[in-house]
Amino acid sequence: VKPDTDFVNEINRLREEKNAVILAHYYQFPEIQDIADFVGDSLGLAQQAAETDADIIVFAGVHFMAETAKVLSPEKKVLLPDLKAGCSLADSCTPEEFGAFVKQHPDHVVVTYVNCSAEIKALSDIVCTSSNAVKIINSIPKDQPIIFAPDVNLGKYLIKETGRDMLLWSGACMVHEAFSIDKLLAAHQKHPNAKIIAHPESESHILKVATFIGSTAKLIDYVKNDPAEEFIVATEAGILHQMSKEIPHKKIIAAPAYEENKCACSECGYMKMNTLQKLYLCMEYEQPEIILPEDIRIKALRPIERMLELS
Ligand code: 13P
Ligand code: SF4
Repeated sequence: VKPDTDFVNEINRLREEKNAVILAHYYQFPEIQDIADFVGDSLGLAQQAAETDADIIVFAGVHFMAETAKVLSPEKKVLLPDLKAGCSLADSCTPEEFGAFVKQHPDHVVVTYVNCSAEIKALSDIVCTSSNAVKIINSIPKDQPIIFAPDVNLGKYLIKETGRDMLLWSGACMVHEAFSIDKLLAAHQKHPNAKIIAHPESESHILKVATFIGSTAKLIDYVKNDPAEEFIVATEAGILHQMSKEIPHKKIIAAPAYEENKCACSECGYMKMNTLQKLYLCMEYEQPEIILPEDIRIKALRPIERMLELS
């Protein structure tokens, strides 16, 4: 890369020339969110990927999200700026172990959170995201036993919300498990008028003190529509960019993590592997590209389509 490359100009040029669309998750770096055609939560991004008429989908997010886009739009080229942008939750659930678990419970409906690989989705009956999970679980007949994977924290939250008894896989998001309840309560004492809001991947002791629980898009909507002026937000810190952009007059505080890291808040190292430079390079060279075996893609498609139909 030439040292004087203007990545913003180059990305805009390539997007035009190649009829590409840039989809970005709320956890991406601010400059990536700002250049994207669409910024959203996992559900919104999947819907965009299914509907776009672009030739190339540039996915500024993590691997399982780009894979979901490829499952839905196989005729399009799907690019991920860094193939190593994974997810601790998706990694916790391997096809071998999960396949054996599903086989042990043949009478169970298999619901998987979208944060898993295409192989895991291929073993599922229906997929969900954090914004539609309650609806998806409630759509399953009451007497039907359910396996829910891979997020144990979201699973516990769903058991509480729906009253359903589900068999849970024990995966977790390393970012949402890093929030410290002691530090969170201390922050709340310092800002007593602030409302605590949280993503359901957080542990139950965090969710217990939250006034509102929802997906990234729902957290942003809540801050927008609730009359409160201050919020402490327990999710990945990238969301603060969009919140302060859309609702600049409100005070947004990142929930503190156990260990004070650089920014004293939680950041997903995988999400942050994507940079403006890598975005430019992947658009220029059209790689790394997401390639999926067709048999896995076909099997993963049905449970994702079922989710989209219900959303
Ligand atoms: P949502 O954006 O769907 O709430 O998901 C959060 C997440 O952890 C994505 O990795
Ligand atoms: Fe995975 Fe958590 Fe990072 Fe989301 S924030 S990509 S769930 S590790």
